[in-house]
Amino acid sequence: MTRIVSGIQATNRLHIGNYLGALRNWVDRQHGNECLMFIADLHAITLPQDPSALRRNVRELAATYVAAGIDPETVAIFAQSTVPAHVELAWILGCLTPLGWLNRMTQFKDKAGKDGADTAGMGLYGYPVLMAADVLLYHGQEVPVGDDQKQHVELMRDIALAFNRRYQQDYFTAPEPMIGGEATRVMSLRDGTKKMSKSAESDYSRINLTDDADAISQKIRKAKSDASPLPESPDELKDRPEANNLVTLYGALAGTSRAEALREFAGKSFSDFKPRLAELVVETIAPISTKVKELMADEDGIDVILRKGTERARVIADQTMDEVKAMVGF
Ligand code: AMP
Ligand code: TRP
Repeated sequence: MTRIVSGIQATNRLHIGNYLGALRNWVDRQHGNECLMFIADLHAITLPQDPSALRRNVRELAATYVAAGIDPETVAIFAQSTVPAHVELAWILGCLTPLGWLNRMTQFKDKAGKDGADTAGMGLYGYPVLMAADVLLYHGQEVPVGDDQKQHVELMRDIALAFNRRYQQDYFTAPEPMIGGEATRVMSLRDGTKKMSKSAESDYSRINLTDDADAISQKIRKAKSDASPLPESPDELKDRPEANNLVTLYGALAGTSRAEALREFAGKSFSDFKPRLAELVVETIAPISTKVKELMADEDGIDVILRKGTERARVIADQTMDEVKAMVGF
């Protein structure tokens, strides 16, 4: 049995990139393993959040996990902030993480902007250290994430080993990133060179897991593509970022591959392909979106799931902190 740990930030709504890059892989791995899937609300406040929106987002994310197929009886679903040990361990790990390691993190550079070195918050800078704490606290062995988080998981490994060296114990195991599926990096529907992101301005750049069938069809219809017909092989998509993205989405959703999708659509135009893609997206997303709405109508029900998840997580986290504190000399 493998201990699997991952989280998603409680900012805005989830999109199909989060689903294909992360959530769907969690669903596939939940049985026969021990999983802790949290809602990263501490990470969310590394950029300003409206408190009432944050509160709602945490619940909506929990509902989305369940709607996407995560079984709350099997998996501990909880809000990160309800297990204070995440922050405690992050401090200890921060004390042995060299600034040089953090300076290499590309996400910080992207999020902090060009004056980031002076203006970004310490939390945004320390973001990957908190991520390391999130996983090491539970001795997580596998970390299923999308491609953009790979660098952070690699840092987690370095931090685990740095702890072991400092305290001369073989205590933490270095967790492995699990980046799987056809669509580890889903791109914006407006610009095939940019990652699909929750925070991009245009809602037309992404498909939200809460979009209804009409919205999905319209977004796919308006998605940027190009004038050429679909090619025979994935290699020919290399310089066609938007086409590549749409074909990747199709392959991932159909449970096959880009090559398989092209076998079906080679020579066809986007006006033939897009309606079929829209159908497939609707088939996948619409049931999730309906279920999220149902679950959100019963806030108490969601709170019970979150509370149970917190209790389960705390048992493991408290034991780790007892051991860590003893090693540190507290
Ligand atoms: P975030 O929305 O940044 O909290 O990301 C939550 C999870 O979704 C992480 O595992 C990310 O790597 C993954 N993810 C985010 N955006 C994408 C994307 N455009 N394509 C694939 N995976 C993604
Ligand atoms: N930073 C991750 C993201 O934006 C979310 C996250 C927080 C996470 N802590 C984690 C993912 C620990 C995996 C493990 O996607």
